[in-house]
Amino acid sequence: MNPKKFIESNKDRLLNELFELLRIPSISADPAYNSDVQACAEAISGHMSKLGLDQVEIFKTNGHPIVYGECLIDPNLPTVLVYGHYDVQPADPIDLWHQDPFEPVIKTTEIHPEGAIFARGACDDKGQMFMHFKAFEVMKDAGEIPCNIKFMIEGEEEVGSMNLEPFISEHKEKLACDTILISDTGMIANDTPSITTGLRGLSYVEVEVTGPNRDLHSGLYGGAVANPLNILAKMVAGLHDEKGKITVNGFYDGVEIVSLEERALMAQAPFTQEAFNASIQIPAPLGEDGYTTSERTSIRPALDVNGMWGGYIGEGAKTVIPSKAYAKISMRLVPGQDPADITEKFTKHFKAIAPKSVSVKVTPHHGGLPYVTHASNPAYKSASKAYEKTFGKAALPVRSGGSIPIVALFEQILGAKSILMGFGLDSDAIHSPNEHFGVFNYFKGIETIPYFYKFYAEQHSS
Ligand code: BES
Ligand code: MN
Ligand code: MN
Repeated sequence: MNPKKFIESNKDRLLNELFELLRIPSISADPAYNSDVQACAEAISGHMSKLGLDQVEIFKTNGHPIVYGECLIDPNLPTVLVYGHYDVQPADPIDLWHQDPFEPVIKTTEIHPEGAIFARGACDDKGQMFMHFKAFEVMKDAGEIPCNIKFMIEGEEEVGSMNLEPFISEHKEKLACDTILISDTGMIANDTPSITTGLRGLSYVEVEVTGPNRDLHSGLYGGAVANPLNILAKMVAGLHDEKGKITVNGFYDGVEIVSLEERALMAQAPFTQEAFNASIQIPAPLGEDGYTTSERTSIRPALDVNGMWGGYIGEGAKTVIPSKAYAKISMRLVPGQDPADITEKFTKHFKAIAPKSVSVKVTPHHGGLPYVTHASNPAYKSASKAYEKTFGKAALPVRSGGSIPIVALFEQILGAKSILMGFGLDSDAIHSPNEHFGVFNYFKGIETIPYFYKFYAEQHSS
């Protein structure tokens, strides 16, 4: 098996095939793109068939389809389930893209001198998911497939994977595996490989504050009635105290305390506050007292307003007291916190802090449990060896701040741990305008993944 050589002699095709996928605007959140999402599922299943996978099938769900295919060679070999998603975030704000988000182009950047593929979904997750298809091709080409491999690629990750849980519960046998392999996270830098050992959970709510029954003239009524926007701003501002702690009653109950030893270990990962500030052009960071930036985004929970609106936001001035004000709020959770419990606590708290002059409604959206795995996991060790082989240095274990809610459910339902071999960089602008994925990273993923299977099979037999 010589992944490097395979990549060298198939470079253009490997890029062009990914480009074809990136041209399909498979935006799961917007029903206007339903037929594109379907077309993308068909393209994925086409690739699976071309790879020679068996049982290739597009499973209908109550939402977007799940695509499955497998290569089972020997019941004595370990079985790996590859998970990824073919859906993407909306491209908005469109004006801030330097190109059509669904017409990929390669451009060099400071961080990606070999070039990066710019397109929505390039990194999250089409590019990373597709590395697994091409890694399979590498192994097939060499006639060395060391494990049984199952592929399950879904189309609703970006909208909460609501239909995936019933699917995996219903197909437990079909999806049975020893470990799950996912590339939907990042690594520290191109010369500093890392493996993600944790994901934060998520509780997402929408709040609605109602004052008067209709929008009012702000001259005739101003000063005498509660303005829901004023009130909401104050309520939201009170959700953090002066030490950066979240004030929701009971929010930190049960939060797992990470030992000083582990924190010291984490602090060894290369990070400079100055570079962090510069990378997003902020004058100074802000967060919970007593924790570093890396800790604030991994081992500690967070609460953020994602959007807030109401009243008049059009051109010019309209004198009005709005009847309603809204906000969307995300809470990132860590081990020891449960999304349903946090949502309940938030709802109670938010209603309790509202003045009598308004009424409050809280609507929960999707959520998910946090996840951690340990470097002692045999699959983790195999991944680690694979990085060492292709990067020439050991990968650092890193807990990420992002969420992939299905990962905790995989563990609960299938009883298998997930290995998060992410090849993206934080600077790749996932979910943002001008999302990109390094050509180096794409090829490095294709090169590294086959070694994971090789080492995992060896570990299994020893
Ligand atoms: N791939 C991301 C999650 C991610 C990115 C984790 C980078 C770690 C590092 C995933 O597609 C995503 O965007 N998840 C959402 C949650 C989902 C329920 C919409 C998130 O984290 O906001
Ligand atoms: Mn993703
Ligand atoms: Mn995403």
